Amino acid sequence: PVRMTFYEAVGGEETFTRLVRRFYEGVADDPVLRPMYPEEDLGPAEERLRLFLIQYWGGPRTYNEQRGHPRLRMRHVPFRIGAAERDLWLKHMRAAVDSLDLHEVLERQLWEYMVMAAHSMVNVQEDV
Ligand code: HEM
Repeated sequence: PVRMTFYEAVGGEETFTRLVRRFYEGVADDPVLRPMYPEEDLGPAEERLRLFLIQYWGGPRTYNEQRGHPRLRMRHVPFRIGAAERDLWLKHMRAAVDSLDLHEVLERQLWEYMVMAAHSMVNVQEDV
């Protein structure tokens, strides 16, 4: 039996394109996150996140062809990511996930991954 990937179940490429577009609309207006992005144009960053998520969820492996192994924690080392940055990233991702109107089972799976991944990207230890 052939199983559907999560990528297919949520609607394929179009869904991930909508997700990251909405996410980067939030980032573009964010006074803390926007200055962290080295390029003036957020388009290339949007495309990298789009291709990464498509690959992660079982779609085409274009991300690896263009960028190599993700090693995301390493790629985020140049950026100072504390709890505040993580929570703002998740705030914009929450709005983006909500905008998709997915079945709640799929939505929960997507969201739990985002929470886990965002926590794993924190790279500064702050005082509690
Ligand atoms: C790249 C910030 C979490 C996936 C970047 C970049 C910044 C950034 C500033 C460089 C932009 C660029 O590509 O030129 C953050 C912050 C996070 C966060 C503040 C807060 C926790 C995440 C998470 C994921 C992710 C959770 C995955 C689910 C990516 C990807 C790239 C990237 C795929 C491009 C890597 C590459 O191919 O070079 N991020 N990020 N980020 N981020 Fe994040």
